[in-house]
Amino acid sequence: MPWKITDDEACFRGAVCWNYYLGPVSFAGRKEKKMAEVKTESKGKYYITTPIYYPSDNLHIGHTYCTVMADAMARFKRLQGYDVRFQTGTDEHGQKIQKKAEEKGVTPQEFVDEIVAGIKQLWKTMEISYDDFIRTTEPRHIKRVQEIFMKMNEKGDIYKGKYEGWYCTPCESYWTEKQLVDGCCPDCGRPVQKTSEDAYFFRLSKYQDRLLDLFENHPDFLQPDTRRNEMIGFVKQGLEDLCISRTSFDWGIQVPIDHDHVIYVWLDALTNYITTLGYPDEDRPEYDKYWPADVHLVGKEIVRFHTVIWPAMLMSIDVPLPKQVLGHGWLLIDGGKMSKSKGNVVDPVVLIDRYGVDALKYFLLREYTFGQDGVFTNEVMLNRMNFDLANDLGNLVSRSITMIQKYCGGKIPAAASQDDFDKDLREIALAVAPKVEAHMEKFQFNLALDDIWVLVRRANKYIDEKMPWVLAKTAAEDPDAKAQLDTCMHDLAEAIRIISVLILPFMHSTSEKMRDQLGIADKKAVWEDAFVFDQLDGEEVHRGEALFPRLDVEKELKELDELKKQQMAEAGIAENKPLELKPEIEFDDFDKIDLRVGKIIKAEKHPKADKLLVFQVKMGTETRQVISGVSQYFKPEEMVGKKVIVVANLKPRNLRGMESKGMLLFADNGEKLGIVTTDAEDGNSVN
Ligand code: MSP
Repeated sequence: MPWKITDDEACFRGAVCWNYYLGPVSFAGRKEKKMAEVKTESKGKYYITTPIYYPSDNLHIGHTYCTVMADAMARFKRLQGYDVRFQTGTDEHGQKIQKKAEEKGVTPQEFVDEIVAGIKQLWKTMEISYDDFIRTTEPRHIKRVQEIFMKMNEKGDIYKGKYEGWYCTPCESYWTEKQLVDGCCPDCGRPVQKTSEDAYFFRLSKYQDRLLDLFENHPDFLQPDTRRNEMIGFVKQGLEDLCISRTSFDWGIQVPIDHDHVIYVWLDALTNYITTLGYPDEDRPEYDKYWPADVHLVGKEIVRFHTVIWPAMLMSIDVPLPKQVLGHGWLLIDGGKMSKSKGNVVDPVVLIDRYGVDALKYFLLREYTFGQDGVFTNEVMLNRMNFDLANDLGNLVSRSITMIQKYCGGKIPAAASQDDFDKDLREIALAVAPKVEAHMEKFQFNLALDDIWVLVRRANKYIDEKMPWVLAKTAAEDPDAKAQLDTCMHDLAEAIRIISVLILPFMHSTSEKMRDQLGIADKKAVWEDAFVFDQLDGEEVHRGEALFPRLDVEKELKELDELKKQQMAEAGIAENKPLELKPEIEFDDFDKIDLRVGKIIKAEKHPKADKLLVFQVKMGTETRQVISGVSQYFKPEEMVGKKVIVVANLKPRNLRGMESKGMLLFADNGEKLGIVTTDAEDGNSVN
């Protein structure tokens, strides 16, 4: 475990922690605060989890996004005095891992051991403060998964049958024929394999009504609302029983009642959240203390597993449900998901080596809006690092510490006067923490950092307004100038101290460096410190290294580009790699297709299939109905008016009770769709 609880931190994990309390004393028309130590009661427990990652490859920046968010939240809650349990880990079984190991000529265990070591090293480098790291190949997990399986069986929720359907190995998901979109996995768009084998089933359908009730009457259970609506739609379509065992490979946990079968990897993986707590042992203090989890933080494509299958499993074994599942968006690159085969994965280690952990964490938390997809580009990242970190925060700290050394002999003076600028800075500084709390409640890390930067920028502006270098010229003879100069240095130091508390959950090393420069490295920060002023009188400042060096963006962009080319070359991905195409066809084959320009005059959702959109398309004299499985990519209203290309002589098909005559053309990069449009007249031939 990379993160060790120090003696100082240990107080957060017990019932009581210590805090500075500041009693109000009247001074020069405002409140002065005096330090005294009092006890603050622990706020209770907080259990947060990340998904457990497939160790099928090294993790990329997209994976770190979720873990960085969970880490920031865990640190925030610890800072507030909660007894936090933050869990992550690796999901090591399944067909995908077995295949990868075979390709590499090693055992699955050897394969995952190597990758998991890399993942743990990555979290150590990124200073991820997890309390437990679960590997699903650990005996503590395996034994309990089998016990949970038996409990579900005893409940009458498991039966043996025959599975006939489709399996997506990269997603380790089962699909029925009607769930496929254009014959591919509806989640990732990749090809699926027809599967037919004896299998055990979980009576998921039995829990349909309770699940609907959960979504409809407990809106907080799944957030954001868009995800909740998707899940309501999914459950309303009707739940089928879930296949929960496989016989076509053996890298998994054996079904306890039938050793020819291994337990479906998702059933195995989801239980991690409670097996680590000792469930279902008789003696399970951790479970009693931490379950139900406060938040399962997961990516949007695995919300279904966490809010349909997982709750149904828990209902089956009579275990309370997690309080909340939050589905975050993806980090996209070049308009699509990162993928090794496209050579567009962003390696977090490269960025950390060049810019440091805190700069990368800041960027991830500041740039993206929780719940939505975001596009990653080096340019946006470098500009953020330069403007927000080097210019705003770095400059504020280095200017202020230098001035305190120069004008006050390195000792933070007491405030001795107050004008409007001083008052304004104080008010702004003290107003940030409640705003941050409100944003953190909603996992709005970007808004929390935005508010903190209002203070950072205000403090920089304050220096320009107060012009301490002018005050310093006359301070020796003019007591008023001296009082103003002292107050200015004092207030800047206080603002920096407050910022050091506010940013601690997001960039704790930077926070520590700032506290070291303020001479308070030995004072453990607590959240309440962000609500008070006047704590630093007499502390001795130390000038440290620049917190964030200024980056030459052009130069960095070039070098990152070079590194990417090198990485692609090492991975055997040629820069001008020919496209992988379907077999060549004759012109006569192509000529059989009648392509026409059509204008969409109406678009609506298919009444019986959530994935389908029903279009009325005008092609010159004729208007006809065309149905496409694209509702997850387009809103019906945004399609109306588009002039599109229709495969007009395609044999009509019946799609869930409605006829589709023809097909629209879409451009597909494996993850994202674009519709092919034209400015030609409707009815025109395309050739
Ligand atoms: N093993 C399952 C989770 C089981 S949890 C009981 C799994 N693993 S995964 O490695 O494929 O994905 C783990 C998480 O990483 C998912 O939440 C997924 O959304 C997230 N991400 C993977 N690529 C991502 C981006 N490009 N951007 C943001 N998150 C991404 O699913």
